[in-house]
Amino acid sequence: MKISFLCPCLSRKTYLDCCGREIDPEYSYVHYLSLINQNTAGCYDAWSHHREAVKKLISESLHYLKKRDRCIVLGAGNCNDIPLEYLGENFQQVHLADIDRQSLLRALSRLPDNMNKKFQTLYIDLTGLNETEIFKDFVEASRQRYYKRFLSSLRKLRANLLDFPFPKIGQNYDLVVSVCVTTQLFSPFIFSILPHSPKMALNKMTTIIREISNLLVDRYFVLLHDLTFPDGCVVLASDIFEWNTEGNKANEFAKVIRNPYNLNSDMINNLLNFKQHLVTMGSLSVNLKMFECPYILDWLWEFKKDKMYIVRGFVLYPKRLAC
Ligand SMILES: C[S@@+](CC[C@H](N)C(=O)[O-])C[C@H]1O[C@@H](n2cnc3c(N)ncnc32)[C@H](O)[C@@H]1O
Repeated sequence: MKISFLCPCLSRKTYLDCCGREIDPEYSYVHYLSLINQNTAGCYDAWSHHREAVKKLISESLHYLKKRDRCIVLGAGNCNDIPLEYLGENFQQVHLADIDRQSLLRALSRLPDNMNKKFQTLYIDLTGLNETEIFKDFVEASRQRYYKRFLSSLRKLRANLLDFPFPKIGQNYDLVVSVCVTTQLFSPFIFSILPHSPKMALNKMTTIIREISNLLVDRYFVLLHDLTFPDGCVVLASDIFEWNTEGNKANEFAKVIRNPYNLNSDMINNLLNFKQHLVTMGSLSVNLKMFECPYILDWLWEFKKDKMYIVRGFVLYPKRLAC
């Protein structure tokens, strides 16, 4: 059984049919994320409510900081959801990290000239996977496109994931900001492959992909902890539920929650506790326990008319871990 890659621009066509060229698997993950960022580049105004909620979280976090020297935004992308000027006003240096170079350049171009010197960009893979041998094996499997070969690579990846080195950032930060990144660490690229796969292949891969996504998010929380100064803070926002009625077809969440505007925090807590199957893959991690959480904020991210995310934002500070 062969698998085939779909273009993420939602055309439902393969890269070849849509973009007129095949994308080598070595670059397809970055290409995929970069296309998504291109598609959402014009959403700055439409997402102002989402960005204001992130700004509220950041302003709460400032109460807990001893100093405001350095801040990093992980998965910064176009920064449609990041109040960049506010960060520039409150920190001496702001580092923007993403795997997609073009989106960071777009974000910087919105800054007033007098602020530019405070900002630096970092092009990195936050999972650290692209530095590993397993990644090469994965790429080879993708080139061959046989689902069994692909499955064997996924198994190798799952078995070795915890031993992978973290991406090298090399500094600590007073504030680490991460907005709606955890759900993007593995699944988007993989799910761009699945729709063309036979049902059996799809079923076999879904479980392992969920496991790998969860392990990657667990690692990501360790990275958040490592990057933060002991008296620093993390602002983390995560898209925990997706409400989707695209094509007049309600997803599982939209069948349970008809009107997402009626949701309040108690209802969200109930859903998190008792409707685990509705929670978006990779949105939260058991490693949240590595942090104290003095502040939580929930909001609706109106992505499009028929697609919204329920976002939970946290102000976190690192617990001191026993050696
Ligand atoms: C949902 S977007 C966040 C929205 C973005 N801040 C904006 O305003 O457009 C997630 C971001 O994480 C980045 N990303 C996803 N996986 C990544 C990885 N493994 N390493 C680095 N960045 C990654 C994507 O390129 C994207 O910019």
